[in-house]
Amino acid sequence: MENTVVIGAQWGDEGKAKITDLLAENADIIIRYQGGCNAGHTVVANGKTFKFHLIPSGILYKNKLCFIGAGTVIYPEVLEKEIEDLKKDNIDLSGLKISPLASVTMPYHIDIDGYSEESAKGSAKIGTTKKGIGPTYTDKISRHGIKVQDLFDIDGLSKKLDIILPLKNKELAQVYGLKTYNKEDIMDYCSKYAEIIKPYLCNDWQKIFHDALACNKSILFEGAQGVMLDVDWGTYPYVTSSNPVAGGACTGSGFGPSVIKEIIGVSKAYITRVGEGPFATELTDEVGEKIRNIGHEFGTTTGRPRRTGWFDAVVAKYGVLVSGLTSMAVTKLDVFDTFDEIKVCVAYKDKRTGEIFDYYPTNVNIHEFLEPVYESHQGWKTDITGMKSYEELPVNAKKYLKRLEELMGVKISIISVGPGRDQTIFV
Ligand code: GDP
Ligand code: IMO
Ligand code: MG
Repeated sequence: MENTVVIGAQWGDEGKAKITDLLAENADIIIRYQGGCNAGHTVVANGKTFKFHLIPSGILYKNKLCFIGAGTVIYPEVLEKEIEDLKKDNIDLSGLKISPLASVTMPYHIDIDGYSEESAKGSAKIGTTKKGIGPTYTDKISRHGIKVQDLFDIDGLSKKLDIILPLKNKELAQVYGLKTYNKEDIMDYCSKYAEIIKPYLCNDWQKIFHDALACNKSILFEGAQGVMLDVDWGTYPYVTSSNPVAGGACTGSGFGPSVIKEIIGVSKAYITRVGEGPFATELTDEVGEKIRNIGHEFGTTTGRPRRTGWFDAVVAKYGVLVSGLTSMAVTKLDVFDTFDEIKVCVAYKDKRTGEIFDYYPTNVNIHEFLEPVYESHQGWKTDITGMKSYEELPVNAKKYLKRLEELMGVKISIISVGPGRDQTIFV
């Protein structure tokens, strides 16, 4: 397999984990490069459902190296639970490696995220997963973060906390009115976190990466979230705090752009979004409800009902551009099996002026004035969940996919017709 990046091309939950798991069979190294336990990645394999938050979705195969990369943020308490659950299922974790450069979510990050969400009113609410993601990345960028390697350097950590903690406590007490932490408590947390991470800590990652390149090993990069949740390219501020776009695969892994050959965007045949923010094709009627029920659209991490809507080709085309997608994987096509009509948004129209946008307007403030311009497609009214080849698909399903390719300007390389590994058509 060529070195490949798998990213979400919408607002997350596109089925990235299913695609990563499938491609991982032919990869040697699988790297999660950004995000943290805000992600909920579902793999259905051998009749069992696995839900990953931080551990790469390639872990179900033996003899693969699965890295939690430098661009991720790790909340050790969630990681511990994930590890325990996999051990109960007898999954071999000997290939799991954690970058010493990944950032650590501290208890105060969770407190701040929770407080910010609960106290936010109206448009200030982001609808985060409350997993401390924003505050952890904020500290990383402001150079007040704790990295995994700090957990194993007691003296260095102690000196760092002497600088960070007084500032953090001031912020906790005076800005948020939250409880403060004393240094001993934080040192205790850190030693507990070190114990959780220690068996997987990978200090010799440079040697492993050099060898991988020298031996032409296959590398698979697993993105979390999606293009439209990217902190630079998404619907800011209604985004996560990392770079899910393909570029993030380089900054978050330690491999440069020249190593990557394929970039697969994953899109559902429709769109979902959890949390706040613009979503032009959102359906708040019974059609949206039907998609939610048939597609089981409830969050993997938070259980929240996902907002649902028609496929948005403007969003898809934007993702193709900002991530340099070489092809698209379309998942959950089967969810439309009983639909008479399927709509696709091909542009946006400004209700005030009639102006047509066929590119993504990045200023979220104008989205309340935009409405989607739809074209309509006939459903196929056939159960496609057992179909194994492109030829087998009903004519109307093929027409729908062809039209999506045309609108997105990129080929569809994978079609998913159910959650199982064998419910996949490679085109
Ligand atoms: P991710 O975050 O992008 O990995 O996606 P999630 O795991 O959060 O959500 C995708 C959900 O859709 C999971 O429950 C998958 O098992 C399921 N899924 C993936 N592909 C398909 C498909 O083609 N059809 C159906 N019906 N379900 C799918
Ligand atoms: P996967 O990898 C869908 C959303 C949250 C919120 C925003 C910011 O499973 O696709 P955060 O907790 O990151 O600060 O929340 O981002 N969000 C996701 N939505 N799938 C995800 O991950 C998400 N991770 C974060 O709902 O709107
Ligand atoms: Mg998910």
